[in-house]
Amino acid sequence: MKIDILTLFPEMFNGPLNSSILKKAQEKGIITINYINIRDFTTDRHHQADDKPYGGGAGMVMKVEPVINAYEAIPKNNSFTIMLSPQGRKFNQKFARELSRKEHLIFICGHYEGIDERVRQLIVDEEISIGDYVLTGGEIAAMVVIDAVARLVPGVLGDEVSAEEESFSDQLLEYPHYTRPRNFRGLEVPEVLLSGNHKKIDLWRKKQSLLNTFFRRRDLLKIRGLTKEEKILLWQGFFELAMLIDEIPERSE
Ligand code: ADE
Repeated sequence: MKIDILTLFPEMFNGPLNSSILKKAQEKGIITINYINIRDFTTDRHHQADDKPYGGGAGMVMKVEPVINAYEAIPKNNSFTIMLSPQGRKFNQKFARELSRKEHLIFICGHYEGIDERVRQLIVDEEISIGDYVLTGGEIAAMVVIDAVARLVPGVLGDEVSAEEESFSDQLLEYPHYTRPRNFRGLEVPEVLLSGNHKKIDLWRKKQSLLNTFFRRRDLLKIRGLTKEEKILLWQGFFELAMLIDEIPERSE
């Protein structure tokens, strides 16, 4: 997958996109990320990328020419152009999966009060918001989208199952994870995970996922639905939780 990022602040991407899994994906050549500094495409001698808004008002607006010039300098034949803004379509895992099938993504990161409307009209295929809050610019949002999309590109995660098994791919939250030591400050790893019985372990994990999702994100379950077996498993989980009531000593009124 080819990724081009149009930004006034390319240095912002350094840490997040050049560490860990994304770093390896680039080293392996599975993903290529290019940074295009919009300021390099300004046409005036002051290299001004923004200007005062027509009609007045506070703040500055990013100029149309430098963004379009930068965009036109990118070699492309089958690209998809994304602009980050709080007005966009809300980003989620399904959307990430859609984008992971594209060959070439171009991200436009706005700053200041916004970008000249004609950028949207001329080159943007989809506007994306990462949530209902306002960031200082599109850069951090672009990193969030790139991270979520890149890990779904085949070969990026060493272990292919982990992308599939995880939260949201089955539309459930994750079960709890444990590693050594068995006992940390009196907190024990659940016995079943030490049993070596993989059928039992899978059932336990599924039950924990269902309980987690039920208590934290019932909205997701309502959309997803539950199979008969899943409902039974959840009932079992509730029952096991209810049993914990007996561990609490009674006190007089
Ligand atoms: N730019 C500023 N806020 C944003 C948000 N919530 N999502 C995407 N881009 C943004």
